[in-house]
Amino acid sequence: MDLKTILSKPLKEQAKIFGLVKHVLANPVGEVALRGWVYRARGSTNMFFVVIKDGSGIIQCTVSKDSVPEPVWKSLEPLYPESSVVALTGVAKKDERAPGGAEIQVKDLQVLFRGEPFPIGKDQSIELLLDKRHLWVRSQKMADVFKFKHELMKACREYLDSLGFIEVQPPLFTVSACEGGAEVFEVKYFDRTAYLSQSGQLYSEAMISGNPLVYVFAPSFRSDPSRTPRHLTEFWQMEPEMAWYDFDMNLELQENLVQYFCHKLGKEQAELLKRFGRDPQDLLNIKAPFDRMTYETALDVLQKKGVKIKWGDGIGLDEEKILVQENKQPIFLINLPKEIRAFYMKINPQDPRTVLDGDLLAPEGIGEIIGGSERVSDYSELIERMKIAGLNPKDYEWFTDLRKYGTVPHSGFGMGSERICRWLLKLDSVKDAIPFPRTMNRLAP
Ligand code: 4AD
Ligand code: MG
Repeated sequence: MDLKTILSKPLKEQAKIFGLVKHVLANPVGEVALRGWVYRARGSTNMFFVVIKDGSGIIQCTVSKDSVPEPVWKSLEPLYPESSVVALTGVAKKDERAPGGAEIQVKDLQVLFRGEPFPIGKDQSIELLLDKRHLWVRSQKMADVFKFKHELMKACREYLDSLGFIEVQPPLFTVSACEGGAEVFEVKYFDRTAYLSQSGQLYSEAMISGNPLVYVFAPSFRSDPSRTPRHLTEFWQMEPEMAWYDFDMNLELQENLVQYFCHKLGKEQAELLKRFGRDPQDLLNIKAPFDRMTYETALDVLQKKGVKIKWGDGIGLDEEKILVQENKQPIFLINLPKEIRAFYMKINPQDPRTVLDGDLLAPEGIGEIIGGSERVSDYSELIERMKIAGLNPKDYEWFTDLRKYGTVPHSGFGMGSERICRWLLKLDSVKDAIPFPRTMNRLAP
């Protein structure tokens, strides 16, 4: 069918006729019709190269002055990368010199939209890329990141679903802060004040009495002013919560989950990983069980490396970096002092100065990617811990209620999806792992 006829049809009909670049690359023979965005364009007196992308791949299309009608040849100048949109027919051929190993010899081409010169060029500043984020998200790099994140979350769901988990939906407007009052966003809620959720955990704890294995994949909000490569004010957490799970079972689930998605992504996303400079084998090498390092041991290690740190001090980004700089495998940092951990974490019976918490630290200096704990399941203990933490149990009445009716041992964890992407794709910042990042200084686009 000629291009004009194809383009005269409704989009629904066109969808059946236009092929996908990935299929052409897989089998580059015969007549094809494609449409997409111009990725690169350059010409000489008799030959014009248009590289197009359609979201499934990128392919070089060659237009020779002699083989297209004159109006087509004249329409080629100017074509703007990322801004111009074309449809074409032609013949696909293997060509080792072309990117992807194939090219199309164009028979007919129509510029569907010429657009304006794209405002993003090569080697732009990080700030400009953030200002023009609405346009930058279409870049090959960003498109790859979001595809990868999708595959990551799909693998997480697949693994948890296979164990009998169900996904549940906590509210995002709340009245009770989960992770400490200092970092909550207040919002006007009619004539009251509400908070944006910091974590779905407290609500998941309510859900496990109906379905013992649940997970939440939802945004978390933190009014954290930190300007680091690992902090966003809005990020997406995968948070499983499990009835009848003790501390060890919790850690085992985490390491098995991490191993599962690393292996799956290492196998299935090998080409994409390589585009980010990540050897897929690194992911295939991730192997559970991961080492458990207590806070006490971590202090020892850090002190030996000259870090001034004492019992009761927090382990921040710098300290985590030192702990995992040389690692190839993630490690659990466990049993932190109760004073610096959340009120809902159960006291460690082996060493009551500490709690049954564990942070999973990713290797290569990345640091915390998961935070989890066994929860306090006893009513009086919970009230006591809240008071020590300076919280008013009255404000959390519904949550303490859970310990009055059918309470059982339970555990859970939260995995930051952007931090996992940053680690696996070697991204400079979590800002590159979410389409429209939110930080203290950035609320738009
Ligand atoms: O360690 P966090 O604060 O734990 C919780 O929110 C628990 N309620 C989770 C649970 O047990 N259900 O956060 C969990 C994870 C961190 O390990 C990190 O990966 C990510 O969420 N995270 C952030 N990611 C980006 N920006 C931030 N500001 C983040 N804060 C935490
Ligand atoms: Mg944490």
